[in-house]
Amino acid sequence: KTNLLTLADGQKMPQEGFGLYKVSGQSTISSAINSAYDAGYRLFDTAQLYKNEAEVGQALTDLNVSREELFVTTKVAEENQGYQKTIAAVKDSLHKLQLDYVNLLMIHWPIKRAFFDSWTALEELKKAGLTKSIGVSNYQVIHLQYLATQAHEMPVVNQVERHPRLNQAPLVKFDTDHQIITQAWSPLGRGTILNDPVLMAIGAHHHKSAAQVILRWQLQSGVAFIPKSVHKSRIRQNTDIYGFSLSDHEMAQINQLNDFHRTGKEPALVYEYNKKW
Ligand code: A2P
Repeated sequence: KTNLLTLADGQKMPQEGFGLYKVSGQSTISSAINSAYDAGYRLFDTAQLYKNEAEVGQALTDLNVSREELFVTTKVAEENQGYQKTIAAVKDSLHKLQLDYVNLLMIHWPIKRAFFDSWTALEELKKAGLTKSIGVSNYQVIHLQYLATQAHEMPVVNQVERHPRLNQAPLVKFDTDHQIITQAWSPLGRGTILNDPVLMAIGAHHHKSAAQVILRWQLQSGVAFIPKSVHKSRIRQNTDIYGFSLSDHEMAQINQLNDFHRTGKEPALVYEYNKKW
C-alpha cells in the first residue's frame, strides 16, 4: 500500500516509515513494531542515540518475515563520529539489530569534528555491503554544499525535523534539486499541533483527525516521513491517509502555519558548538 520512492542510488524506500525515537522497553517496542507491521509499515527507523537497537532487532527478528520485506534505518551518534569510531559503531549496531546490513545508514547530526571522516566511513561501509544506502540527518544547506564539493557520493536522504510549524521549504527545495529525499522526523510536531484550529477545521471537512491531515500534507508534499506512536489505534490511524486528498488551498493553508518552531535541537548550533573539539 505504501508508496515507494526511488532514491538517487536506485534503491526503493517506502515514503512512510515508523519512528522509534523515545520508544523503549522490549514489550513496548515489540508491540509497537507488530502493530506497525500489521498496519502496513515496512520502514523502521532507529538510531544509536535511541539506545533501543537491540530491542528493535529482537522485535524485527520475531516478526519472522523475509529481510527483503523490511527497510531498516539507523544513524551514527555524535559520540561515534570519526572514521574508525563510525566503522566500529555501525558493526555494533548491526550486531544489536541482528542484521547483515541496514537499508539506510545516516549521520545523526552535522558536527564539525570529524564531519568529513564520518562521511568517508559511510561510503566505505556501503562499498562493503553493510548498508544499501547512505544519508544524513539534520544537515542544513551549508553542510550539504560542503559534501557536494568534497564527497565521492552525495547522501540520498536528509532526515530533518519537519511539520507544519517548521516546513523547511528552502531546505526541501535544495534537497530536491540535489536528488536528495527529505525525510521528516517529528512529522506530527511531536503531537503538539494536533489542536491547531486550521488543522482541525480541515480535518472536520474530510472527517479525519488533525494527525491524518498533517500526514496527508506530508505525503502530498512529496517528502518521506516517520511518525511515532505506541498506541495501536493511532498507529493504524496514521496509515489511513489514502481515502481523501487535500486541495491546493488546504495545502497552502497548512504551509502558512510555518513559524519556525523547533521541537528539537538547532543543527547550526550543534555544528558551531562542536567546532571547538
Ligand atoms: P503516543 O506515542 O502516545 O501515541 P512525532 O511523530 O511528530 O514525534 O509525534 C509523536 C507524538 O504524537 C507522540 O507523543 C505520540 O503519542 C503522538 N501521536 C502520534 N500519532 C498520534 C495520533 N494519531 N493522534 C494523537 N497523537 C498522536
